[in-house]
Amino acid sequence: MEYVSMRGAKVPALGLGTWLLEGDECTRTIPLALDVGYRHIDTAQGYENETEIGAALQRADVARSQLFLTTKIGNGRHGAADVASSTQESLARLQTDYADLLLIHWPVHFDRVGETLEAMTQLQERGLTRTIGVSNFTRSQFRYAASVAPVACNQVEYHPFLNQRPLREAVRAADAVLTAYSPLARGAVFDDETLIRIGQQHGKSPAQVALRWLLDQELLVVPKATSRDHLASNLDVFDFVLTAPERAEIDGLARGQRLVDPPFAPQWED
Ligand SMILES: NC(=O)c1ccc[n+]([C@@H]2O[C@H](COP(=O)([O-])OP(=O)(O)OC[C@H]3O[C@@H](n4cnc5c(N)ncnc54)[C@H](OP(=O)(O)O)[C@@H]3O)[C@@H](O)[C@H]2O)c1
Repeated sequence: MEYVSMRGAKVPALGLGTWLLEGDECTRTIPLALDVGYRHIDTAQGYENETEIGAALQRADVARSQLFLTTKIGNGRHGAADVASSTQESLARLQTDYADLLLIHWPVHFDRVGETLEAMTQLQERGLTRTIGVSNFTRSQFRYAASVAPVACNQVEYHPFLNQRPLREAVRAADAVLTAYSPLARGAVFDDETLIRIGQQHGKSPAQVALRWLLDQELLVVPKATSRDHLASNLDVFDFVLTAPERAEIDGLARGQRLVDPPFAPQWED
């Protein structure tokens, strides 16, 4: 495993995404993920799997201090009172006293973002979360958030087909870390001829090449996977090095392909 420093915390760079991992499938997958070596799990109130994750972690033979757990405040729970109560509900479902990272899931109600962040900062001061951050914030929204609260992270869609370097630099400039979600472009990386060819040079799959390219940018990366094979394969990315020309070639694959763009998304910036 590689680690990224986030406001003094040593965070496993590769975590498990859990969107659409629900019910029994989630209950089965979490122990598999822990067994193959995952120690960072990304969930959200909106994923409706905090209960299954909490129960699986409770049964697992892994100390809470060894885990990095992220959850996200749902779009309907912004504002001071709801932030506190919804976070406490999340922690109860996750069967833990604290989150490692608590995010605003989407910048809806941007007029109230200052109030929401202030409430999250208070939760951090009370020890209910180690760090706070945001998700799906554009560059200008992120700069505003960082000016009013100690945000440590912006979690956004990032894979070889979507250029996020300007946002990555803005996040870095605020001493925060970018988390890449949908890092496998929800499966699209598997068919890309450039990634396939570069993978063949290293005995790796196109997915492993995409993950390596992201990790080389000192990001957190949270691919979702279900089977033991997929889980293990996505972790098997720490034993090869992309050359500078290979990295440049992957940089060149960006084509503005955004896969997660719901009606309540912000006006995206370059
Ligand atoms: N903050 C946000 O608004 C937001 C939005 C989207 C996503 N996210 C986070 O980011 C995580 C990842 O994004 P994502 O779930 O959209 O997509 P993703 O990780 O890019 O791709 C997941 C897909 O790839 C498949 N896959 C994974 N590893 C594979 C392998 N080694 N070989 C073949 N197929 C493989 C998975 O199938 P199997 O499951 O069958 O293995 C699944 O269909 C989410 O789960 C969530 O935690 C956050």
